[in-house]
Amino acid sequence: MNTTFSDQEIKELRDETPGCTEVNHLNNAGAALMPKPILDAIQQHIELEGRVGGYEAADIKKEVIKELYTVTAKMLNCKPHNIAYTANATDSYTRAISAIPFERGDIILTTNDDFISNQIQFLSLVKRFGVIVKHAKNAPGGGVDLEDLDAQLYQWKPKLLAITHIPTNSGLVQPVEEIGKIVSKHDTIYILDACQSAGQIPLDVEKLNCDFLSVTCRKFLRGARGTGFLYISDKVLDKGLEPLFIDMRGADWVAKDQYVPRDGAIRFEDWEFAYALLLGTKAAIEYYLAVGPERIWNRVQLLADYTRKQLDKIPNLRLLDKGPQLCSLITFTIPGLNAEQIKAELFKRKINVVTSYRNFAVIDFDEKGVEWAIRVSPHYYNIESEIDLFVFELIQVIQLLSSRTTTDNKLQTVN
Ligand SMILES: Cc1ncc(COP(=O)(O)O)c(C=O)c1O
Repeated sequence: MNTTFSDQEIKELRDETPGCTEVNHLNNAGAALMPKPILDAIQQHIELEGRVGGYEAADIKKEVIKELYTVTAKMLNCKPHNIAYTANATDSYTRAISAIPFERGDIILTTNDDFISNQIQFLSLVKRFGVIVKHAKNAPGGGVDLEDLDAQLYQWKPKLLAITHIPTNSGLVQPVEEIGKIVSKHDTIYILDACQSAGQIPLDVEKLNCDFLSVTCRKFLRGARGTGFLYISDKVLDKGLEPLFIDMRGADWVAKDQYVPRDGAIRFEDWEFAYALLLGTKAAIEYYLAVGPERIWNRVQLLADYTRKQLDKIPNLRLLDKGPQLCSLITFTIPGLNAEQIKAELFKRKINVVTSYRNFAVIDFDEKGVEWAIRVSPHYYNIESEIDLFVFELIQVIQLLSSRTTTDNKLQTVN
């Protein structure tokens, strides 16, 4: 495979990733394998906390922690004051939408491929505040229909436009730069869920033209579980939007009945942090920038394409990804088989994949007419031979499970 990485570079990147010797990790859309510099940053800080005390360790590392905001801003092409750190992408997302002063009858415009938890949160807003949720149509080839999106923005004047860059349950990449251009003509708050794209696709908030962008750090960014961040545009900050449950880090309590929110995205943060994880995230973003966002995206697409081509050769296997552009979330289903059993058999063979079910993506799965999918998500440090091994083992697993199903059917007939 012709990628912008030499074999030697990939070898070095793999040597730096201890998990590569243990497993064939094709679940980077769940949580990627952490490289050594990230593990070291976390472990060193935990040890420091153990030696000098947690608050004191954070004080010692104050300047390094500040740099986290600088590297994150560099990654997104914004300023450090636009970044708030959180515990995960959902935490980022709920802080953002809690800042929007929804009133009865306000409209949220979204797509048919938005993330499950975002959709549940909108339905909760429907229940509590009487907001209305509208969905833009999909284009025939998959992904949101841009004309319909534009028309619905004119028609409904939504208070919030919510787009998920890459849904959790398919390889679709929404055309977010085009969406950013459309949004510039409308007066709406625009939130982009970049949970699956951060670390996979280069992100530039100037081009994306979003007001909020939510991220988790354990997936394609290769950080530890337990950190996320939220980008907040100057437009939103200048409007004075603040999270509903602002805490003592986000605001000053100045009189018995008065608090004053702080300037900048810090008003979206909590006082308490897992500083070891934040330092791991700083190492992860530095690592990502050093490896090279464009090169990563290039290699990830090649690996994903290779995976789809190999899977497509398996009889009875149905690839499910659909859209103008696809990424390294590769989903498929196999009629007649059980998803959990496939995953478990692969796990026995040290191959990591995950399952998705209809309730993860009701609209998408119903449209595709499927109950479940297996999701495979190689990252740049994965290699072709791992994909080949996965496909080989998958074929063995399909044969094994199909023969069990046939035997079970025969026994049932006899009984
Ligand atoms: C598209 C998308 N958005 C949001 C999330 C939620 O992320 P987190 O688990 O970090 O809250 C996920 C998790 O898989 C996701 O795939």
